[in-house]
Amino acid sequence: MTFGVVVVAAGRGERLGHDRPKALVELAGRPLVHHAVAGLAAAGLPPPVVVCAPGEQAAFRRALAGLTVAALVAGGEDRTASVAAGLAVLPEDVEVVLVHDAARALVPADVIRQVAAAVTGDVVAAAPGVPVSDTLKRVVGSEVVATVAREGLVAVQTPQAFDRAALAAAHATGARATDDLALVEALVTQGRLPGRVVVTPGAFAAMKVTFPADLVVAEALLRAGPQ
Ligand code: CTP
Ligand code: MG
Repeated sequence: MTFGVVVVAAGRGERLGHDRPKALVELAGRPLVHHAVAGLAAAGLPPPVVVCAPGEQAAFRRALAGLTVAALVAGGEDRTASVAAGLAVLPEDVEVVLVHDAARALVPADVIRQVAAAVTGDVVAAAPGVPVSDTLKRVVGSEVVATVAREGLVAVQTPQAFDRAALAAAHATGARATDDLALVEALVTQGRLPGRVVVTPGAFAAMKVTFPADLVVAEALLRAGPQ
């Protein structure tokens, strides 16, 4: 199987609230995107296409010093557009594509390897998933209208892995989503694409740095070593 990797790093990081794109914010002295790319390499994946914010290429090049990347390309207005920009420059022989958030800096190697290995046979897409631990309520404004059964629910992480043709078909629909699994899974459930979409074991350490408190948690995880 020939793998290709796209790391999306072009978000502004508004919820984190720093003076620079989130992927360039440092965690224990290294930018988040540096951690994410180094983690993929440690799991044995080929150098990724890194999709970065337009106008920030020099800063990203500095942030990735010492690491090998296949290309640096400008991202788009939303995550889906950034992924598409990365897919557009993947070599033709790539069969399985991994799409990874730069904001998930600390994904364990076994999580990466398991999701990459899952795309085989009739499996066209896979993502790491972790059970949901909070009790979930459906609300309308501040009104609680239902409790959502937690059984059978998982929170999905990245990297997500795809049969390349399936991911291309999903992006060709023009649909937008906060992850790519949603796009492929929509085609499969509508009967427009054959195959299965699966989850593989995720990990708490594959958490996404979204809010300031997440950086504190990530620093602590890094200090504590492999979980
Ligand atoms: N992303 C991207 N291009 C965009 C938006 C997001 O490449 N136009 C990337 C981010 O850089 C991040 C991943 O998608 O690695 C997940 O997005 P998110 O956590 O929402 O990051 P941001 O969009 O940067 O954060 P915020 O929504 O708080 O502004
Ligand atoms: Mg965002």
